[in-house]
Amino acid sequence: MAAMRKPAVIVRVPASTSNLGPGFDTLGIALKLHNQVAIRELDEPVVERTDAGKNSADAVALSREAVDAFFRRSKRRPHGVQIEVKGEVPSSSGLGSSVTVRLGIMYALNELNGRPLSDHALLDVVSELEGHSDNAAPALFGGFVASGMIDGTVHYRRFHVPAALKFVCCIPQYEVLTEKARSILPKQVPLRDAVENLNRVALLTATFATGEFSMLRGLFGDKLHQPYRKRLSPQLDDVIAAGVAAGALGGWLSGSGSAIICLTEQKERAVAEAMAGVFAREKIRCTTQVLVADNDGTRVKRG
Ligand code: HSE
Repeated sequence: MAAMRKPAVIVRVPASTSNLGPGFDTLGIALKLHNQVAIRELDEPVVERTDAGKNSADAVALSREAVDAFFRRSKRRPHGVQIEVKGEVPSSSGLGSSVTVRLGIMYALNELNGRPLSDHALLDVVSELEGHSDNAAPALFGGFVASGMIDGTVHYRRFHVPAALKFVCCIPQYEVLTEKARSILPKQVPLRDAVENLNRVALLTATFATGEFSMLRGLFGDKLHQPYRKRLSPQLDDVIAAGVAAGALGGWLSGSGSAIICLTEQKERAVAEAMAGVFAREKIRCTTQVLVADNDGTRVKRG
């Protein structure tokens, strides 16, 4: 292993749930479930992941891409980097784990190199790597974020999400790869489906922003991606219906799956039991967590 020169910069990046039903590639909320990314500068020009385990080839490739992107955009002189990722965010579950790694690496490298990039520039670069900004924006800024890549840059607006809102998150034992979940989407959709999503996404955002949470009922439906992704997440409709019957305001496929989330103000236990019950009946193991929103976004833990 190459000799170390400087202490680690450690950043904490929250998980995020994106789409929220109709807001495909647009809406996201950061959640209080975190990964930590520790970065050390190395003397030798190498990129090392010390935690990669059995996924080491993919993990190193994703990490190297993020390191390269940082030095390209910042125009700082490249140096060797040792990376350690640990934490609570499950991979390939629709909770933004790849963003925690990409953003964590770039945010920590930016700190280590005297902050040459603004938050907005970091968001642009991470969103480019991801192909969309709907996880990166809430993971960086916290809270509810509406965002999109428009004319080569990410536009975004964020607002606070109160802890009274509980996100009941069911993660089945199977994983879904985002690439696969995007490849099964149609190239074109009927105009009436697009309009229905437009109606819902505008109403959902305005209702969240004004805090009239009981008015969210009926707004999480989607015609653009969830109907097609049921091939990969066959229990989706039943799990959401069970959560709603138990008192949830609504539910959605988190990102491209496999996690399914239902939102509730008071009924989190009943909702969690109802959602998990659907998987249990299908003999699919799942873990259930009740989460609240993270309004802080990415933070440096210590230098
Ligand atoms: N908006 C993206 C999608 C999120 O639904 O494919 C993927 O994590």
